[in-house]
Amino acid sequence: MKRKYLNRLSKLAIVAAVISITSCRDEDGLAPEYMPDMYRSPAVEPYVDYGELRGNYSDAAYTDKMTARQSVEGTIPRGFVPYGYDNTAEGYELAGVNLKNPVAYTDKVAADGKELYGMFCVHCHGKTGQGDGSIVQNDKFPPLPVKFAPGLDISEGKMFHTITYGKGLMGSHASQLNQEERWKLVHYIRSEFLKEAHAQTSSSNGEGDVAGDSTTQQISFTGDLANDLDLIFDFFDEENPNYDALPTRSPSVILKGVYFGPASYKITLSKSKETLESVVAALTKSAKVKVELAGHTDHGSEDESINVNLSKNRANAVKEHLVKKGIAESRISVVGFGSSQPIASNEDAEGKAKNRRTEITVIK
Ligand code: HEC
Repeated sequence: MKRKYLNRLSKLAIVAAVISITSCRDEDGLAPEYMPDMYRSPAVEPYVDYGELRGNYSDAAYTDKMTARQSVEGTIPRGFVPYGYDNTAEGYELAGVNLKNPVAYTDKVAADGKELYGMFCVHCHGKTGQGDGSIVQNDKFPPLPVKFAPGLDISEGKMFHTITYGKGLMGSHASQLNQEERWKLVHYIRSEFLKEAHAQTSSSNGEGDVAGDSTTQQISFTGDLANDLDLIFDFFDEENPNYDALPTRSPSVILKGVYFGPASYKITLSKSKETLESVVAALTKSAKVKVELAGHTDHGSEDESINVNLSKNRANAVKEHLVKKGIAESRISVVGFGSSQPIASNEDAEGKAKNRRTEITVIK
């Protein structure tokens, strides 16, 4: 009796199994897919509102159905430094006057620049910078209107601007090269092709400021202010037999030890006396040399015009002091750069202190 039932049951089970296996076919003959999303997830593009993915949110702030959140307006990538000059003829001129290479020149920097040049520039500008790169030689690109050679009258700020935005037939390289890399390239071009000498402090390169002759010797600063002032004053003295071949400006020396009150342009004389005396002595000794005093601030105010005013007023205060000590006013010009030419990071107090400075440059 029992066996009979078991037999029937097992027959039933076999029939059920056969039915379930054979009947479960899709129209296309393939086995069915339960929860097909798990086999084939939908291709969801970022930043697209499909109108379904976030439908269940109750929080009003999240009820739009975007697949990814947009970043907050004004967000920039970590480490990215915005570039403050417009892609216009005016921006080009301004950058040309104001921008100084913030990367100190070293052999390593020039070597990095050379490597980058070989990757991004050589096919147009050529191995020797004469604008005869491979694509020009293959007639794929017209001959370049610019040759990198001693005497080329393009300031480093203009070069940086051009690498950033492009110019004429040259495209922008801002997406391939970060700012530091672009400045390294400027160093490489100027030292390798323009044959510019490099001093330890970066020299201020205004318009036309190009060391046009390889007879320009390298000035090696010692770090001792009186000594360094003598170096640039002697070198740029009209008595120098190479005077005509010298660039229009000497490298700059930072007047370390001139102090101002916070956000003020009143010199703290008690602390600054020694430095100012050195400057007076040097100017008195080289009575023909003309100088430029350049004021720089840290990124103290968001409003750059405030920084520029402060830096100019500070340079002016130094000038007034020198005039009071008997130096002819006509020998000293003054310029304020605000925070546009940092030599260190503006992120920490130590860097900021370095950026707040007055520089002296001999000008021809
Ligand atoms: C596709 C060819 C091409 C490439 C690649 C190229 N350049 Fe140029 N470059 C040019 C042309 C063309 C000019 C002349 C632009 C003009 O004045 O109309 C130029 C001009 C310049 C100038 C002169 C700027 C000025 O203000 O007049 C500099 C500096 C320069 N290039 C640097 C570079 C560097 C650095 C690279 C590599 C990162 C590079 N170029 C890559 C074609 C190129």
